[in-house]
Amino acid sequence: MTQHAFPEGNDGSGGGSGSGPSGFGGSGGPDGGGGDDGGGRDWWRESVVYQIYVPSFADADGDGMGDLRGITDRLGHVAALGADAVWLTPFYRSPLADGGYDVSDYRDVDPRHGTLDDFRALLGRARELGLRTIVDIVPNHCSDRHPWFTQALASAPGSAARDRFIFRDGSGPDGAEPPADWQSKFGGAAWTRVPDGQWYMHIFAAEQPDLNWENSDVVADFERTLRFWLDLGVDGFRIDVAHGLRKDLTRPLRDTRGGDTAPLNSPPSGENHPFWDRDEVHEIYRTWRKITDSYAPPRIMVAEAGVSAARLPLYTRPDELHQAFNFFHLRCPWDAASFRQVIDTSLAGAAPTGTLPTWVLSNHDVVRHRTRYALPDGTALPAWLLTDGREPAADEERGRRRARAAALLTLALPGTTYLYQGEELGLPEVADLPADALRDPMWERTGHAQKGRDGCRVPLPWTRTGSSYGFGPGGSWLPQPEGWGERSVEAQTGRPGSFLELYRTALSLRRGFLGDESFTWLPSAEGELAFRKGAGLVCRVNLSGAPLPLTLPEGAELLLAGDELTGDGAGGFSLPPDTAVWLDTRRV
Ligand code: NOJ
Repeated sequence: MTQHAFPEGNDGSGGGSGSGPSGFGGSGGPDGGGGDDGGGRDWWRESVVYQIYVPSFADADGDGMGDLRGITDRLGHVAALGADAVWLTPFYRSPLADGGYDVSDYRDVDPRHGTLDDFRALLGRARELGLRTIVDIVPNHCSDRHPWFTQALASAPGSAARDRFIFRDGSGPDGAEPPADWQSKFGGAAWTRVPDGQWYMHIFAAEQPDLNWENSDVVADFERTLRFWLDLGVDGFRIDVAHGLRKDLTRPLRDTRGGDTAPLNSPPSGENHPFWDRDEVHEIYRTWRKITDSYAPPRIMVAEAGVSAARLPLYTRPDELHQAFNFFHLRCPWDAASFRQVIDTSLAGAAPTGTLPTWVLSNHDVVRHRTRYALPDGTALPAWLLTDGREPAADEERGRRRARAAALLTLALPGTTYLYQGEELGLPEVADLPADALRDPMWERTGHAQKGRDGCRVPLPWTRTGSSYGFGPGGSWLPQPEGWGERSVEAQTGRPGSFLELYRTALSLRRGFLGDESFTWLPSAEGELAFRKGAGLVCRVNLSGAPLPLTLPEGAELLLAGDELTGDGAGGFSLPPDTAVWLDTRRV
């Protein structure tokens, strides 16, 4: 029997290296042509995509801000982890009012992040390492410094330049009230008034004016942008706010009457919302799909769409996008029945379109899951962040155990897992960032009622010591907490039982079970999840709060456990609370 929960020495450290597709080169994906996983299947059906939040991954030039050269230098870590692809958050020219999701030039690199040549070098290095590269596209809004918006401000109401955005006269006497009650996701009204009295719409910050997708310039320019990055060789796009592009712009604009207060990435309440999840948005993706399919091998698209479980599959119809993020999994409370329901709904939703679900636990917009799982169930995260993480106190051990169990649960499911940088290090949320360090526009826009998302964006620790713990030769744009170096890649490499070794081992073992996408629930105890993925990967997770007996069928091999198991191994194991195991039952 082999148990990999606590790899000895370095034996798990190279788990995935060299295990990506081989034979690089060419202008397509790392396989240089087929676009498949080597077995004739599309590579993205069951892959692991590692999200790089560009400002916080690695900084080569020492200005404290992550950059493309830094990423290129550190891509070996992602390959050694065993991921198949990276998704890079925006690195385009931007005033960085919202971490780069406010783009002023869609076809150039922001000088703080590097140059187009740096991007070419990054792509080349990724290919050498067998990694695909997915980039972000931000079509719902641009920056208020984008030349189009500057032009719109300088032009008269009703002009062609203003028609690229959503400008309206105000309501009320003298038009001094916003045109409709639409609220910004970052707090306050979704409208800002300009000196000539008109208002423009922005679902996010005022620095992010929404584009008018009924305007043909907008449609054409994004097609150009897609082709620009496709021609450079990217393997796909992550589509920001994919459910927001089309609005009901019939006059007068309809009020939402409180129908858009859901947090970021959550489904809007009610149907026929004036700006969320409108049917017309799908026309855009049908056109885009034709573009991505015209490349060899075809490139992929993944939607960031905060819509209901019933409507999410509409985005992955065969002539639209390939995948959509599964935020239901991310938001699922730590409870077996809830996970079971999310898993069933996700698999059922994907089945009619012939896709597989994605699985996400964390990203750059949410409190890191190690910390979420450490908090009492139902903790209101925005309020908790305002307490600098002190009240209620996080139960560190519970968060640690659950984060490890959640990783094994997630990585065993059929489909693609999106990992957020640092989750493989078990990084917690940095809840006590001082107010003067905060950069998220939410902080100011909510009048300090919400701290925002900086706590999950603190630059990564690579080394135990040294300037910004190896993030770069200078400082770091957000302060790193004391002790960050002990969570670094260097500190965890080869350390038995470290998060990093758990992830490396899990990703490596997972490869042995790809190809067979079947999924079956197995008989389980109350509060336990037990399922078989494919021909023989069995995953059991104990969410019951008490130890559960773990009986290994004859011929089964214990592959991996999130934490140490109790029991003598002869009379059977006991699965401790908040622990997951993987069994290989192919020979049972
Ligand atoms: C979703 C992105 O993930 C988030 O970071 C950004 O603030 C909004 N979209 C607006 O672009």
